[in-house]
Amino acid sequence: MTSPDVLHRWSAQRRPPIDRFPYDAVVTAYQQHGKHFVPDAWTQALTAARNRIAHLNGGDSRYLSTFLGCALDKTDGRFDYRSYLGLALLPIPGPDQTPGAAARQLVRRDRLHAQLLIDLIAFELRSAYDELTALPQMRPTPAVTTKRLRHALRAAMPALHRMSFVDDASASSEIDLLRRVTAAVNLDLTDDDRRALQTSMLPVHTMHDEWMFIRVLQAFETTFALLASDLTEIITAVQAGRTPAAATRLSAAASLLRESASLWPLMATIQPAAFHAFRPYTDGASAIQSRHYKILESLCRRPDNQRLHSPAYLSVPEVHTAITQGQVSLDDALDAAQQPAAEDPFLAASMREFTAAITQWRQTHYRLAVRILGPDRTGTGYTQGTPYLNDARHEPVFRHNPPTTRDVGGNA
Ligand code: HEM
Repeated sequence: MTSPDVLHRWSAQRRPPIDRFPYDAVVTAYQQHGKHFVPDAWTQALTAARNRIAHLNGGDSRYLSTFLGCALDKTDGRFDYRSYLGLALLPIPGPDQTPGAAARQLVRRDRLHAQLLIDLIAFELRSAYDELTALPQMRPTPAVTTKRLRHALRAAMPALHRMSFVDDASASSEIDLLRRVTAAVNLDLTDDDRRALQTSMLPVHTMHDEWMFIRVLQAFETTFALLASDLTEIITAVQAGRTPAAATRLSAAASLLRESASLWPLMATIQPAAFHAFRPYTDGASAIQSRHYKILESLCRRPDNQRLHSPAYLSVPEVHTAITQGQVSLDDALDAAQQPAAEDPFLAASMREFTAAITQWRQTHYRLAVRILGPDRTGTGYTQGTPYLNDARHEPVFRHNPPTTRDVGGNA
């Protein structure tokens, strides 16, 4: 077991060097114990380190304080979905209005998506061969590991193709392909990427499957973030009368959401017993707090008052406030442009495509939740659990119900 001495020594320096903070030792300790069980000696040493840097501003000290905020979230009584997943520590795509932003943001999303999945693959391989690998409890059987590796690779593939990191023809077998893509992604990692992957893995317990659970949630969040900024751009395009551009972008967004659905079969390899063993310690951290998911949803259509004032949106106060202060949705923009979606068959088609992709996402999520939780277990976001999801999956995506292709004179 590691001891916090190294952290005490760091804090004891006259001016603790931010770039030499012992992330390795801290993350190792957290992975050895699980965040919920990490000994007080560690949280006290981390609190002392935080006090030492409190007066420093900017640069790396900001990253370090964000990390300390995530590591000490339970101690501070601030544990939530964002701090559990360390979302602020990851290079998640954000709003960007500069020229060429769309392409850059997709590259950013693809890089992170691939890195998260390759890290998962590396963890699964490591633990299959080395019993000292972190999170030793409830290791999956070799059959489950094989299935998990296959699904992780499949989910990473489209991004790896776009980054030209993979050439199917040259791989002689699946394991060969795994080796090649792992090497390619690792070679591309910057020091910052490595640090982000390391610091964003602070599981609450020591169950093997929690690593996968965290990485899959982070990967979905990466895509939601991109889709949320896409939606903002789409709305701007509609407001500027650039309907064809809006339609093309919305169709691309639908296609990315469909593509990311390949993360579900991966998540479905979770062992229910392992999930139930770590889940009590994630209480208070639920994806109902996902800002990007709710931004995405509310940028399509302003939620009805009943949903807006329910835990669905009260769990994301910033998004709730933005909506009540007049955030413009795609529906609103179409109203203002006095342009029924039906008038532009391409926009109507892309809205249908996006509706289908979201609906599919919600159905798959609901079905998996029912399978893992059963009908009666409540959610970690203090909802009734699956009955909440059952209602939420029927929420209309757009108020402007785009007619079918047949209605607008197409070929169905
Ligand atoms: C074992 C897998 C999963 C189970 C059992 C599960 C269960 C649940 C439950 C019960 C809720 C209701 C809120 C609550 O009280 O916590 C919920 C909400 C949610 N989950 Fe999951 N979930 C799983 C995986 C995922 C994954 C991989 C994502 C991807 C980010 C995700 C995203 C969401 C979102 C966005 C909500 C909020 C939906 C809304 O408010 O309409 N979940 N989940």
